[in-house]
Order: sequence, then C-alpha cells, then structure tokens
Amino acid sequence: EEDSKTCSVPDEVMLNIFSYLSPRDLARCAQVSNRWNQLALDPSLWPGIYPVQWATGDWSFHPSLKDDDDEECGEEATCSFFALREVRIISGLVKHVLKRVGGGVRVCNLAHSRGISSSLVHKILKLCPNLHTLSLAHTRVTDAAFKEYGLKGQVGHLEHLDLTGCENVTDATLHSLTCYSAHCQDPLPASTSGITCPQDGSSTPPVSDHDSVISDRLPSSERLVPIVHPVISLSPPPVSENSGPSHSEFHLSFLESEALIEDPTFTDLSALELCDLDCLARNICNQRSEGENSTRGCCQTRDIFGSKEGKDRNSTGKTPKRLDSGEADVRNVPKTGCCSGGEGCEGADGDGERELSVMSSATLPHSLHGLRFLSLNGCFRVQDSGLRVLSERGGLPSLQHLDLSGCLNLTGAGVARLVEACPTLDHAHLFYCDNLFPDPFPTTASGCRNLQCTTRICCRSGD
Ligand code: FES
Repeated sequence: EEDSKTCSVPDEVMLNIFSYLSPRDLARCAQVSNRWNQLALDPSLWPGIYPVQWATGDWSFHPSLKDDDDEECGEEATCSFFALREVRIISGLVKHVLKRVGGGVRVCNLAHSRGISSSLVHKILKLCPNLHTLSLAHTRVTDAAFKEYGLKGQVGHLEHLDLTGCENVTDATLHSLTCYSAHCQDPLPASTSGITCPQDGSSTPPVSDHDSVISDRLPSSERLVPIVHPVISLSPPPVSENSGPSHSEFHLSFLESEALIEDPTFTDLSALELCDLDCLARNICNQRSEGENSTRGCCQTRDIFGSKEGKDRNSTGKTPKRLDSGEADVRNVPKTGCCSGGEGCEGADGDGERELSVMSSATLPHSLHGLRFLSLNGCFRVQDSGLRVLSERGGLPSLQHLDLSGCLNLTGAGVARLVEACPTLDHAHLFYCDNLFPDPFPTTASGCRNLQCTTRICCRSGD
C-alpha cells in the first residue's frame, strides 16, 4: 500500500531498474518504503564501494578514470571539505549500508582517502567478507586495520591488495592476513609499538587503531563543529499522508552520516562512530536490539574497536633509510606459527581442535591464498620476517604481480624466499629496490618502480 503504484511490479524487475541507479540514488530509494528499502539494499546492487570518489560527487559504482597518482589536494579548505565528506560517507556506509549489502561488495577502493581510519577499515573488512579487491594506497592505516582479518573466515577471497605508500603498515599486517587459526586471539605482534625513522631519527609513536586522520590536518577554525541535525522522518510515510517526505528530509542521506561532535577540539575519530539516531536506517540497528544477530555490529552498543589512546602521527614524509639491524629486531615477529604466540597459539596447551588448527597451519589456505596482485610499494617498515610469514604459510600460489619497491628494510634473501613460494609470479611484474643485496633476480626481475616517481619512497630519491 505504501508504494501502491509499484507494488505490482515484480521484485526482479525492480531490481533490474535499481541496477541502473547510483549509490546515492539507491540510498534515497531506500527511504521510500519498507519494500524499496529491501530492494535498494539488495547486496547484488552494491558490487563495490568508492567513498573517495563519491566524496567528490562522482557517484558511480565504477572506478574513476582519474589517475590516482596525479591526484593532489588543492586548497587546504577544499582538502578539508572532501576529507570531512569522506568521513561522513564511510561512516554512513559502515553504520547503515554495509550491514545489509556487505556480502555483495567485491571491491573497496579507499586509495588516497584522507578520511579513513584503521578502525573504519577494520569494520569494512568485517562487514564485507567477500572482498576480492582492496586498495588502501596512500592512506595512513595501520596494522590495526587488519587485526583478526584472517580469523573471520575471509579465506582466499582477496585477489588484489594494494598497500602502496602505507607507511604505517608493518609485518604485523602480513601476519594478520595469513592468520587463520580459530584460536589466535592476538595476531598483532606486541612490537607494533613505535619505531625510529632511520632518515631523521625522529620517533614514531605506537600506531593507534584510532589514528586521527582529519583533526590534525584541519586548522582549528575548521575542525568539526557540533552539527544540528535536521528533522528527518524515520519511518516510511504514513499511508494516509499523500504528501511524502519533503526534499529537505532526504538531503541527509544515510550515505552521509553526520558526525556527532560535541567538542570542537576533538582529536579522536571514534566520535564519528556514534550512532546517528536520526538516520532512516535505524531499523537496521533495531535488528540488533531485537537480538537477531548478536555478532552484527551496532553503533548503538558503542562497541567501538580498539583503544582511543594517542593520535597516530605519520612519518615526516622524508625518504627513510634502512633500519639498523638492531632496530629491525624490535618488531619481534615470530618465525613460525599462526600468530604472534599469544595465548591459545603455537606452543600453548589446548584441546585437540586447537592443536589440529595449529598443526595444519602450513597447509590450510589463508586469506591471501588467492592473491594475484600485491603491492607493498613504499611500506618501508616491512621486513624479511614479514615476507617469511607469507612464504612459510603456504606462500602465494596465485600471485602474478609483486611490488616491493621502496621496502628499504628487505634483503635479497628475504625477497628470494618469498618469490620461491610464488610459483605463478611473472618476474616482469616483480619489483624491488635496485640496491637490494644480494640481488636475487638480477636478469629477470624489473627494477625499482619508484625511481621516476617523486611521491613514492625510493632510496635513490636524492635525499
Ligand atoms: Fe632502492 Fe628505489 S627503493 S632504488
């Protein structure tokens, strides 16, 4: 009755019509009636999410044709505006959309996102178990983004993982991605604590899962301020009312959740994760309160991942040098086993199931089992121990492209060990530092990809 003019149209036809709509239009359609809400949030209509380009007004389910490498922020105010909008869109997706459509999302492109945090990435990964393409290139995400990733049943789906320029990523990320023991409670090595930049000696504090990406970039006058929410109809329009919700009631789509920031000097993006109770998608959250699914995240529970301590400060942006061996050792990544050796893992006493899980860790497929493309370009904190985790956990049997350029702390032996565990890797698509010693594949591999690029880390950049 609510949409009497369309109620006779079969769902299949409606879905076909909706398949021509943009994500923003789908979000608007989802606010028309319960039936339209069900149809518009059908997982088949959401094959990918592109919050960064959506924030620029390009509401498309296809990647922008713009070259990411050429993308630059212009005016600071403009940069801040887009960053803020990204945060709203990503928050809206995480809170209200992905819970419904996450199973259908195959592509997540967050490259160059200025608004993404590790916490949000962690939630996206949790809500989109079937992702096969993930790009976090040139973001400030940390290892916390991938915490427990391998434990959530996301086995073998990832085919394309782009971590280009993710300077805060360490061995712990590779560790988490290949951890699949149901009993691993702590895939992150304890040593994700601070690291000293080899270039200028500055100390990077422990990476926080709540890296405040926005607030420290905004001038104090432009930081997020309290937002007065417009009145929004939370329910489909009553049948008796011919006049549907006004246009103004729709302008705050649940794709763009407003931030509830009370303190204009806030420094923690977790504040953005408070539930927008005025959102039309509140009925989604109600499923949680009804106990339908106790594991589904609900923003009303304030169940926010990770700690809220300390802001994550990025590196200075200068080209780092290799770490001294003494510095490299502090990461303390375990050589074998399914995780960092936390309770319940290798060596710990346990029941038969746990032992089986640990014993078979070398043969069970991990989440990178089907990976074809891997770029750690510029992830200078990754070391041989991280690559060893990949090679010792079954390798990457489907890998065809591997970029290790700018990983200044790798050795020739470490790269060779991983490449040996990648039987399908085409050496024409194998990139690593030209100064690697010993050079494991001097005549077959391609050289460093960063030499001609001023934005990527390269030991020959002249610094
Ligand atoms: Fe060494 Fe580019 S990273 S040559």
